[in-house]
Amino acid sequence: MDGARAWPGGTEAAAAPDAAVPDVRALVRPHEVHRDIYRCPRVFALEMQRLWARAWLFVGHDSQVPEPGDLVALQLAAQPVLMLRREDGGIAVLHNRCAHKGAPLAPEGPGRAGRLLRCHYHGWSYRLDGSVAGVPQRGGYEGSGLDAAAAARGLTPYGEVAVHRGFVFARARADGPGFEAAMGELLDALDLIADRSPRARLRVAGGVLRSVVPANWKIYLENVNDALHPPSTHGSVTESARRLWGRQETAQEPPLAMRQLLPFGSGPDFFDQMGGRLLPHGHSILGTRQSIHSGYGGLDAQALRAAHGEERAARVLGFAPQNVVFYPSMALKGTPQVMRVLRPLAPDRTLLEAWAFEPEGADPAALRSALLYNRQVFSPWSMVAHDDLHLFEGIQRSLAADGNPWVSLHRGARGNADAPPPRDVGGLDEGLLRNQYRAWAELMAPPAGPAP
Ligand code: FES
Ligand SMILES: [Fe+2]
Repeated sequence: MDGARAWPGGTEAAAAPDAAVPDVRALVRPHEVHRDIYRCPRVFALEMQRLWARAWLFVGHDSQVPEPGDLVALQLAAQPVLMLRREDGGIAVLHNRCAHKGAPLAPEGPGRAGRLLRCHYHGWSYRLDGSVAGVPQRGGYEGSGLDAAAAARGLTPYGEVAVHRGFVFARARADGPGFEAAMGELLDALDLIADRSPRARLRVAGGVLRSVVPANWKIYLENVNDALHPPSTHGSVTESARRLWGRQETAQEPPLAMRQLLPFGSGPDFFDQMGGRLLPHGHSILGTRQSIHSGYGGLDAQALRAAHGEERAARVLGFAPQNVVFYPSMALKGTPQVMRVLRPLAPDRTLLEAWAFEPEGADPAALRSALLYNRQVFSPWSMVAHDDLHLFEGIQRSLAADGNPWVSLHRGARGNADAPPPRDVGGLDEGLLRNQYRAWAELMAPPAGPAP
């Protein structure tokens, strides 16, 4: 594992028999991780089979599929799936693979099936729960054994599904804590963000910005918890914003676009003081005390007090985290209501989606703020994202450099590495990243039973 040697199951020996493969968890040490976790196709395949199969993954939001038959086709743990609204009003997550010969039932993106899903290849049709409704030329199957075959069971469910405040999660393998135990404090965070609506209900709005990042998913997810980088990485955009706004000879408050960008140039003390919280299973909250979003809530405080009461409204208004990380698949912001979803495609390719939410019944300014933020910060043509994406692509390439195969996570680490980690840390503490990798090692344990 030392020096320039890659993991024997990895980049240098893809053909090694499984029996000879050491435990992949050795690639993660308490304060550093091996480069193969970002680059190796076999590690990526194991991640999909173990970590991404065991974790509760964000699938979508139920406001995307308001009516029975509405669907979204998407990638989940590098597999094609459908999220659709069933006849009974529930949400199904099914493999997007015809039971006959494997054709997709719908192209990626939003769609509408009506009462039946129909395969365009040979015309098999399915009810909205995935069961087979019709097989053309059925007589030709008499005596063939089809009724006892897997194909007769129809579309395969992805796994267990759980919905909280409209946020749909699924896991392929029931191996680990159930939904509520696995999510823990994150459910409170979802409640606070949903209660930004006087009707206590969010709705996806304004479409989804999608871009393929030429880097491993973990490089992206680390960055979500990396508050050390904005002053250096995003110096050019904040400096341009300062110069542009500085030329305006007015005592007025800067426009929203400026109020969203200028805080990226805050000093390291600001980012450290905003605080981070380490939660079990790799989850975290960055910005427990303050964040770069604290200055532009865009909510009608009076409407929220009337809807939720004084005390609850104060909590909702005071919750403006930089990022709530739902490990490993999603990161959500309170103000503005935007979310990033990670969909790994390959060791060096990650589909990144940026979403905006509208709090139902709220001042339209809240949605305008979310859409503006996504355009300014997360879209491929934004002024901020390209700084990061350029670096992520570069890191993916530069990790090929021999000599030092380890990536450092030392910042803020003190004392005994075996001691339980603190719950609350400074915003610049890489304890937030070590927390992600502790979960990585837990979730990469070999399965107890046979693989599904
Ligand atoms: S592959 Fe779908 S009907 Fe044949
Ligand atoms: Fe960044």
